[in-house]
Amino acid sequence: MHSTRVRGPENERHGCGWCGGLPRRSAFTVSSTVVRIPLEPFMIDLSANENPLGPCPRVARAIVAALPALHRYPDKDGRAVTAALARRLGVDASWIVLGNGSCEVLELAVRAHLAPGDEAILSRPGFAPYHAAIARSRGCEVALPLRRDRHDLAAMLDRVGDRTRLVILGNPHNPTGTVVARAEIERFLDRLPEAVTVILDEAYVDYAGGEDFADAVAFVREGRAVLATRSLSKAYGLAGLRFGYGVGAASTVRAIHALRQHYNVNALAQVAAVAALDDPEHLRRSVEHNTAARRSLHRDIGRLGLACVESRANFILVRVRDGAALCRRLEQRGVRVKDMTGFGLPDAIRVSVGSDEDNRSFIAALGVILGQSDASGERRMSAERLAELPNSI
Ligand SMILES: Cc1ncc(COP(=O)(O)O)c(C=O)c1O
Repeated sequence: MHSTRVRGPENERHGCGWCGGLPRRSAFTVSSTVVRIPLEPFMIDLSANENPLGPCPRVARAIVAALPALHRYPDKDGRAVTAALARRLGVDASWIVLGNGSCEVLELAVRAHLAPGDEAILSRPGFAPYHAAIARSRGCEVALPLRRDRHDLAAMLDRVGDRTRLVILGNPHNPTGTVVARAEIERFLDRLPEAVTVILDEAYVDYAGGEDFADAVAFVREGRAVLATRSLSKAYGLAGLRFGYGVGAASTVRAIHALRQHYNVNALAQVAAVAALDDPEHLRRSVEHNTAARRSLHRDIGRLGLACVESRANFILVRVRDGAALCRRLEQRGVRVKDMTGFGLPDAIRVSVGSDEDNRSFIAALGVILGQSDASGERRMSAERLAELPNSI
């Protein structure tokens, strides 16, 4: 089949009965050849904490402008974007290290701090790459349970010993979305021995808001043994490009530089990051949308009779009875959320804050599942509540 249109991927309504008439991705048409991609049923993806507004338009323009130079290697030191970050954060460029996503910075930071047998303290459940990085460094993980869904800093202090080199704190934490306040972190840092560095993972910092929130870069400026890691994957909408950074003492940053590959951050990610950092308006819109939509989601999930953890990020942890079963049933209705079984939470799901339309579809699908049968193990919804649901599923 020949066509000169470039039209994919796009969404088409269909009626296979499998996903209840939801749109699906159909075909890719590239130059004069139609390339069929597998007909994956269209999924509303609320599983990966991405920004439903996408990146700012400046990013697309910056990428197009950079295309003619794609035969060149990127700046191995990412000088333009490092300078932009240094100005923004009020720190010296030598305090900043860039990564292929903040996951790379986290991985390298763990490797830089842990010799085999050294200990890293962190919370359980937590973000999987922390555990993987510690294991790859052949370090010993001391994973302590959350207390009322928050880091238990007192228990962590109790566990600090001669071999402790690292504490890793997500703030806000994934998967709960909870934060520990500045005053608590200050007290914690005051009591830690000098040999221990704290990685404050602030991938969701832009969403946290609030007077009580601890800015990890401020701790670095004060000369504390802190490495702040941040990401442009979330509020800046650049997850697909992979750009993150760390801010720490020059000696810490040097140790991480020594472990990274020269060209770890590609050229398009570098120009995109400069453009994105230069658009505070888009960031403001993204955060505003998230705050309002998170509140509505929280309320609507509560109305369906499920309990949520109060989140300061762009996702919500929801208590259910059988998370894996509920995820399967949501997928059958075209909505993907995160099954928390791998996090050690079989009785929870994590749902990202999406666009208003996607959030409504999620709530409608959840409502239908809860109302249809007790097979998911969840509560049955009242007929009145079912009647109120939007018709989008
Ligand atoms: C707690 C936490 N830290 C770090 C990251 C990694 O972000 P990046 O895309 O910058 O590697 C994520 C991504 O989901 C996350 O949830």
